[in-house]
Amino acid sequence: MSPGYPIVDIHTHMYPPSYIKLLASRTTVPYIHQPTESPGADPRLIILASDDDPGRPKSARGRPVDSTYSSFDEKRRFMSAHGITCSVISLANPWLDFLDPESALATAQEINDDLDKACGENNAQASSSSSSDSKLKLYAFGCLPLSAPLKDIVTEIHRLKTLPQVKGVIMGTTGLGSGLDDPKLEEVYSALAATHTLVFVHPHYGLPDSAFGGPETIAKSGHVLPLALGFPLETTIAMARMYLAGVFDRHPDLQFLLAHSGGTLPFLAGRIESCVAHEREFIANGGHRQGPKRSIWDVLHTNIYLDAVIYGQPGLKAAIEAAGSVDRVMFGTDHPFFPPLGDDQDSKWLSVESNKTAIDGCLAQDEDAKRKILGGNAVRVLGLEL
Ligand code: URA
Ligand code: ZN
Repeated sequence: MSPGYPIVDIHTHMYPPSYIKLLASRTTVPYIHQPTESPGADPRLIILASDDDPGRPKSARGRPVDSTYSSFDEKRRFMSAHGITCSVISLANPWLDFLDPESALATAQEINDDLDKACGENNAQASSSSSSDSKLKLYAFGCLPLSAPLKDIVTEIHRLKTLPQVKGVIMGTTGLGSGLDDPKLEEVYSALAATHTLVFVHPHYGLPDSAFGGPETIAKSGHVLPLALGFPLETTIAMARMYLAGVFDRHPDLQFLLAHSGGTLPFLAGRIESCVAHEREFIANGGHRQGPKRSIWDVLHTNIYLDAVIYGQPGLKAAIEAAGSVDRVMFGTDHPFFPPLGDDQDSKWLSVESNKTAIDGCLAQDEDAKRKILGGNAVRVLGLEL
């Protein structure tokens, strides 16, 4: 039964048809393999370096990619099945990180225009429809041509503000190739802050295979180590590096939304703060390097929002506590990743239900807090019209 308020999914991916075509034209990671040896079989999505295991045939690498990855109808079907009234869709990893500098801007523009148009058409229809199933709203996070020259990246940040359905941008943790603490990103951060663009930071690269005992150990449990541990640690390290490099001191207006409840940042923020306070290198402690001037807690409470994609109560409690209030945490699903493995594709997805159960469990007595996390915060922060 609908709770009577908007349920907004801010972590939900799509590879629009133009992007699927791009991946299908490639033969190195990231790419889509069409198994010619077994006609009718779903193509395979091979996007993580650990997916491309030469010990397996290509038809068994990565994961099957079906229409849930690219079809707007499938997205709406999933939303209806889970009571979601609005989705803010984003291109999935690895975005446009792999493009050559010459083609990156045009590709980003094409994909961003495709997303804006599809959401606009959906929303126009939703506004004029009387049936609740056709009232579902779609918005998007745009993508940036990060491999292009700086001026192209800045141009696209400004252009995205003219696309009415685009409510921010999604990006990975590598920035221009050297991480989010790269001094070359200063101009990009200035443009993001000046345009009040919310940046959804999402992992892709994980940790080096050696952190998990090498490719053979990883393969024994498929995606578990890279996704359960590599992804969240990648986000944690990227944000800690930004913080240590003083990005938030120089750009106090930047606004980030962190995937997977900030990785392990909520749990480790106190430890980061303590290590900074004890680091002799930093001027504040008698050293010669400028350390971060602001407390990490201040940054968490003013520059960072966290999604609620953490699948359990302890993680969600840490996210709410670190974010400083229930006003800075937002529901998400990570659709179309983590689908049910059985045949019943119409059943509720465990990955969605476990996030909802964690929200219910943490905030059982607080309807107002649930309303905020499930949708109210997204409506307020992103300025969604529902
Ligand atoms: N696997 C991915 O590659 N990306 C996600 O967002 C989730 C799972
Ligand atoms: Zn995701």
